[in-house]
Amino acid sequence: MCRVTPHNGAHNTGVTTIDLRLKDKVAVITGASRGLGAASARLLAAEGAKLVLASRNQADLDKLAAELHSQFGTPVLVVPLDLTQESAADDAVTKTLATFGRIDVLINSAGASQGGLFWELADRVWQESFDLKVMGTIRMMRAVMPTMIAQKHGRIVNIVGNTGLQPSPRLLPGSAANAALLAITRGLGEEAAPHGVVVNAINPGPTKTERWTTLMNRLAQSSGRTIADVEKDYTSQIPLGKLAEPDDIAGLIVFLASDRAANMIGTAITADGGWSKGIG
Ligand SMILES: NC(=O)c1ccc[n+]([C@@H]2O[C@H](COP(=O)([O-])OP(=O)(O)OC[C@H]3O[C@@H](n4cnc5c(N)ncnc54)[C@H](OP(=O)(O)O)[C@@H]3O)[C@@H](O)[C@H]2O)c1
Repeated sequence: MCRVTPHNGAHNTGVTTIDLRLKDKVAVITGASRGLGAASARLLAAEGAKLVLASRNQADLDKLAAELHSQFGTPVLVVPLDLTQESAADDAVTKTLATFGRIDVLINSAGASQGGLFWELADRVWQESFDLKVMGTIRMMRAVMPTMIAQKHGRIVNIVGNTGLQPSPRLLPGSAANAALLAITRGLGEEAAPHGVVVNAINPGPTKTERWTTLMNRLAQSSGRTIADVEKDYTSQIPLGKLAEPDDIAGLIVFLASDRAANMIGTAITADGGWSKGIG
């Protein structure tokens, strides 16, 4: 629950908090073992949601589940899966429904696009980016949709990336995957809205997670430069002058997962420290 400090006398109105109304909601999070997925899981647990944590590494998921259970008493289902496998999303939904009986929220945060000089990137790099981030997100959304439509209620939040709006040199496999996901989010947002299912996206800019560190290491290796120099190429474009913390982004993800975002359809919130230019 986000606390809002009341102005003098505001206690008379009884309006002192923004209640995100996420208590006991069932939220499925992919890419939950670390980074933005794990940060979102912690905030949702603090809000009282029941969680389904999905990614490949069961040990990491079990560790997070134990932390959330002991800190917040959160009921957690751990679902180890590889989202590049076609049946993984349907299996995850079957297990979720068997345990919790409904799905209120889906957060798609699994993704790991690589970067590099365009003329050195093999087919495999492009295919991996699309197989996991684009197809994984499509499969998860397709798998939860019948349940959400039957409930006449659902929230889907796709963690996309500001390079979908402003493609970044040396990050083109991720930029292209992100552009595709923004198009799908926009169109599916309209298709799903009449059924009470709200689909939106977040476009983070560079954020301090393992994915970002791995990306910087690879770009430094392939260009023969230091990691600090490579990272400066990006931070120098950010008016705020620094990388985001996972929590900066997770707060927005949880807001979009809540009923407070009910009037936002197929849109994307950009949170990139001012990197993206333009007003569109
Ligand atoms: N960090 C940034 O700067 C940034 C900026 C813009 C957009 N984004 C996007 O935000 C999303 C999350 O990024 P992050 O920074 O949190 O990355 P991260 O720290 O590397 O986390 C990625 C998550 O995806 C999971 N994952 C990887 N391959 C998978 C597979 N085949 N099947 C299922 N799960 C898989 C990983 O867990 P396992 O290893 O356990 O599978 C992990 O939980 C990504 O889509 C990324 O493109 C990130």
